[in-house]
Order: sequence, then C-alpha cells, then structure tokens
Amino acid sequence: MSDGLTPERMAGLMEPYRHHVIVCTGGFCSPDHRGRTLYALLPRLLQREGLLFGPQRVKRGETPCLGVCAGGAIVVVYPEGVWYAGVTPALLERIVVEHLRDGIAVEEAVFHRNS
Ligand code: FES
Repeated sequence: MSDGLTPERMAGLMEPYRHHVIVCTGGFCSPDHRGRTLYALLPRLLQREGLLFGPQRVKRGETPCLGVCAGGAIVVVYPEGVWYAGVTPALLERIVVEHLRDGIAVEEAVFHRNS
C-alpha cells in the first residue's frame, strides 16, 4: 500500500465487533428513502442498548443499494446474513433489541438468510 499501511498494521486499527448492520438508503426499494431515517436513528438505538462500544459492538454502514430494490427499506445483519424487508423505525428498534442485543432474529420480517 502506498501509505505504508500494510494489512498487518491495519489489523491493529480494528476493534472487535459482534455484528455489522447495513442499511439501504436508496430510493428504489423505499421511494420515501426511509432508509435514511433508519440510518440516522440507528446510533441512538445502539447507544441505548449498550451496543456502540465493547465486545458487543455493532458496526453500521449505509449503502445506496443492496441489489433488492423492492419491499424496503432493506436492512442486512452480518455475520448471520439475515436480510430484513419493510423495515420501519419500530421494526428497526425490534431488530436492535431482539437480534443485535439478544441474538434472536425478528423472523416475521426476514426474507433471506445466508446459510
Ligand atoms: S435501492 Fe434499496 S436495495 Fe436497491
């Protein structure tokens, strides 16, 4: 790497985390761009549940498309590869509490699972 950061040195910059949540903020799956509201809400919910720091930490990211483009807002949780459709602020709160904090997916909103 041109900046001298080798993969080994980069590894020292990463802190452990338990989950990675990616929110689609695009306008095809959710014409009202609901994902933007969800992504703005996410850090407050994670902080409330003690999931911003430490070994239970949840990393988060937003993307303009997750390749589904219907039934949004779309949210995916890794490492399980659990995909949620029709995510509203109320459902996002359940995902944070039930899935990310307690480890139990909100099954009625799951439309795909990597397994
Ligand atoms: S715009 Fe959300 S999945 Fe494509």
